[in-house]
Amino acid sequence: MRYHLTTFGCQMNEHDSERMKGMLESLGYREAPERGQADLILFNTCSIRESADSRFVAHLGEAKRLKREDPRRVVGVGGCWAQSLKEEVFERFPFVDVAFGPGQVHRLAEFLTSDSLTAQGFFEFEGFTGRLPARRARPFQGWLQISVGCNCRCSYCIVPSTRGREVSRPLEELVGEVAAMAADGVREVTLLGQNVNSYGRDLRGPRGPRSFSELLRALDRVDGIRRIRYTSPHPKDMREDVIRAHAELPSVCEHIHLPLQSGSSAILKAMRRTYDRARYLDRVALIREHLPDTALTTDIIVGFPGESEGDFAQTLELVEQVGYDGAFTFIFSPRRGTEAGQITERTVPHSVKVQRMERLVEVVQRRAHERAQRFVGRTLEVLVEGPSRTDPERLRGRTRHNKVVNFAGVAAPGELAQVRIDAATSQTLSGEEPLLARAAR
Ligand code: SAH
Ligand code: SF4
Ligand code: F3S
Repeated sequence: MRYHLTTFGCQMNEHDSERMKGMLESLGYREAPERGQADLILFNTCSIRESADSRFVAHLGEAKRLKREDPRRVVGVGGCWAQSLKEEVFERFPFVDVAFGPGQVHRLAEFLTSDSLTAQGFFEFEGFTGRLPARRARPFQGWLQISVGCNCRCSYCIVPSTRGREVSRPLEELVGEVAAMAADGVREVTLLGQNVNSYGRDLRGPRGPRSFSELLRALDRVDGIRRIRYTSPHPKDMREDVIRAHAELPSVCEHIHLPLQSGSSAILKAMRRTYDRARYLDRVALIREHLPDTALTTDIIVGFPGESEGDFAQTLELVEQVGYDGAFTFIFSPRRGTEAGQITERTVPHSVKVQRMERLVEVVQRRAHERAQRFVGRTLEVLVEGPSRTDPERLRGRTRHNKVVNFAGVAAPGELAQVRIDAATSQTLSGEEPLLARAAR
C-alpha cells in the first residue's frame, strides 16, 4: 500500500505529518512520489487564514477526481481545517472517507484498519502526536512537541478551537525523547507549542509547577544537542528566567520570535493579547539589555477591525524603533467561530489593508537589512542543510540567529561549518568557508 501526504500550515503541522509518516511506515505503507500513485491520499490542513483554506480546497479537487477514477482509494483529511468543520466536511465533500483533528493523529492506524471506512470523523482532543514514531525530513534536525493547545483567547485566532486546551508533556519524557534524538544523530531541536513559555504550569515537579526555563536547562544538558530553538513564545510570558537561560545555556540559539500583532494598545486590547504597547517594549528592552546580539523576529497583523490610520502609525513606529531581524506580516482574515470574525462594523477596506501591508513591509525590510549588516565581516557557525536553492555550486544553511546563509564551501549536510560572512540582505547572508577550514575537513 502506498500513501501520499500533503502538509499545509505551521511547524506544528510539519511535525504532525512526520509522525503520520512514521506511523504509516510502521504499518507497512510506503510513500508514493505522486498523489495519482497512492492508495491512501492524505492531507494535513490549516485554517489560520482564508488563503490557507482556499489553497487546500484546490488540492481536494484533484483528490476527488482520483477517487472517481478508482473508488478503492481512501481520502483522509486531518488537521485544523478538518477540526474546524467537523462533520460538515462530509456534507461538503462527500468523497472524503475519514476526517480527523490534530488531537486524533495517534488513532490513524485504527481508522485505516477499521472495516467500514466511510465518512468517519474523529475530533476529540486526546493524546500527543509527539509520542508516535517519527520520520524526519532531515536526520540532523528534530521537532519536539512540548505542549498542545492554547489557553489564550486572541480574538482573531482559530487555533484554540482547532487545537483545544493547553496540555504540557512531562519534562522527563521530553528529556528522554531528546536524548534518543541525539543518539540518532539530531544536532538541532526545535521545541513546538502554541505558547511555549507557558509550558509546565499544568505539571507538578519536585518544587511545584514546571517552567519553560527549567525545560530549557534540562534539554541543554543532553549530550550531542548543539542547538535548541523554540516557537512561539507569548510576550505576556516572556520573563527574566527565559532571557537568563538564553544568556547562560550554550545550546539555546540567539533568536527570539516575539509575536507583536499590533503596535497600538487599543488594537492589542481588542485582539485580547493581554499586553499593551508599553509592556511589549519593556520585554524588548530587557532582551536587548541582556542579549544585544540576539535576533528578534515577530508576527504582525494589519487591518484588524477598527484599526485607524493612527493605530497603524503606531505599529509602523514600533517596528522602526525595535528594528526586527525579520517579520511575518499578515492581512487580517475573519475566521469562522472567532470573536473578531464576527465584527461587521468599522472593518478596514481591502484596498487600505493592502496599502498598509506595503508600507509595513517597506519598514520591516529596511530595518532587517540594516540589522543584518552587523554580521558582515564576522565568522558564524552554520548548520549546513544542503545545496543553495539559487546556485547548486554553493551550500545553504542557517546561523544560530536563524539567518539563511548561502556560501562557498565543502561541508556536508548536518555539519557545523564556520562561515565568513561577506554580504547581507534583509533575508539572507552570503559568505564562504575559509580555505583553512576546508582543508581541515
Ligand atoms: N501560537 C502562535 C502562532 C499563531 S498563528 C503565536 O501566538 O505566536 C501565527 C500567526 O498568524 C499569528 O501570530 C498571527 O500573526 C497570524 N494570524 C493568526 N490568525 C490570523 C487571522 N485571523 N488573520 C491574520 N493573521 C492571523
Ligand atoms: Fe492563536 Fe493567540 Fe493562541 Fe497564538 S496565543 S495560537 S495567536 S490564540
Ligand atoms: Fe498551525 Fe494552521 Fe493549525 S497555523 S495550528 S495548522 S490553523
